[in-house]
Amino acid sequence: MHYIEKIDDKISNNDFTYVKFVGYSATSTTADRKYLMSQDANKIALPHMGEPYLLTPGPLTTSYGVKQAMLRDWGSWDDEFRAVTSEVRKLLLELTGDTDGVLDCVPMQGSGTFSVEALLGSFVPRNGKVLVLSNGAYGARAVETLEYLGRDHVVIDKGDYMPPRGDEVTAALIADPDITHVVVVHCETSSGILNPVAEISEAVYAQGRKLLIDSMSAFGAIPLNINEIRYDAMVSSANKCIEGVPGFGFIIARKDELQAAKGRSHSLSLDVHAQWAHMNKTGQWRFTPPTHVVVAFLEALRAHKAEGGVAGRGARYANNRDVMVAGMRELGFETLLKDRWLSSIIVTFFCPAHPAFEFERFYGLMKTKGFIIYPGKLTVADSFRIGCIGQMDGDVMRAVVTAAGETLNEMGVDSATPPEFALKERAKLAA
Ligand SMILES: Cc1ncc(COP(=O)(O)O)c(C=O)c1O
Repeated sequence: MHYIEKIDDKISNNDFTYVKFVGYSATSTTADRKYLMSQDANKIALPHMGEPYLLTPGPLTTSYGVKQAMLRDWGSWDDEFRAVTSEVRKLLLELTGDTDGVLDCVPMQGSGTFSVEALLGSFVPRNGKVLVLSNGAYGARAVETLEYLGRDHVVIDKGDYMPPRGDEVTAALIADPDITHVVVVHCETSSGILNPVAEISEAVYAQGRKLLIDSMSAFGAIPLNINEIRYDAMVSSANKCIEGVPGFGFIIARKDELQAAKGRSHSLSLDVHAQWAHMNKTGQWRFTPPTHVVVAFLEALRAHKAEGGVAGRGARYANNRDVMVAGMRELGFETLLKDRWLSSIIVTFFCPAHPAFEFERFYGLMKTKGFIIYPGKLTVADSFRIGCIGQMDGDVMRAVVTAAGETLNEMGVDSATPPEFALKERAKLAA
């Protein structure tokens, strides 16, 4: 049961007095602030409610400004909310570098998976055929979605983390002229690998096919400039690198593809063309929008712009990764991936071979120190992940490393070296 454990202070303005509470019993944790005491006032603020940092790939730690933007109610048909939707679409399009106006942006209610399903159901014709490049859970989910949709597909399955390469895509497309579309996951969040979308895009268009990109966890921090990497449509969501809260996704697609998508969708609510046409005509979402989430997202987009857009956000996340990976390696942990493939979104570490290491205990102790980490998704070896995205900077990442070191001591783990077979598995990637 949740209940307020301690009332910290009261904040008043002219109309309200509301209570800032820190900590709940039983089901919630108040972070141990000692790990972050050195943080100065100009840096990113600590989580406002004393909750742990989310070192996870979304939902992630958001700013107080983003959360505060949700305190007001909005009429979904009202002009003011329509203006919010319009600005969100415009600011998202700016991130693509689309100076020629060939793209448009269609927000879609639901989590990221809803938008991926909307994308596949709307852009792949019923008689189309998809080549899915799968190297983790989200590639596998795209395959599962196509099975639900009854769209013909083939898969290049690279296992847990090996990257799909341009030459294999070329060979697969030459071998099967029926393939109309290729689907690739930009950052495969299940391992953290940054897939080589530029070379894949070249291979796809050289064969006259179309590319659909799941850039869920990458868009906003890793460049996806339409003038440099060609694609027909991509998808992402509110609670990733733009640092909004969960509740909707968005599809950015060529306008001619949006037009061609008319009547294709298997689903009333996930019909991208219908949402697009309605939004362009009325300024409104077709069905009830998550109003507070959208307004919070606009706040997040403005903060993203103020930070220097994709370049600024990407630089902070890359620094987060570099600080955290260097520190974890000093403790003896090993990353699954070699540096060339490490994204600045999330990093997979092998669990230490030491018999006293147990992930659940490590997780629990890290949480009491103020950091929620993420279990791994590898099938080949035990692993865990640490995310680099969200309202965090180098100081936070240094504190994560300190906390990890102290946690190993508490567990009696004097070596973080992974098992031999895990390192052998990793050598395959280097080969
Ligand atoms: C690459 C990728 N695709 C799809 C999804 C699914 O998004 P959601 O969990 O919001 O449905 C995620 C979620 O993290 C993701 O990272």
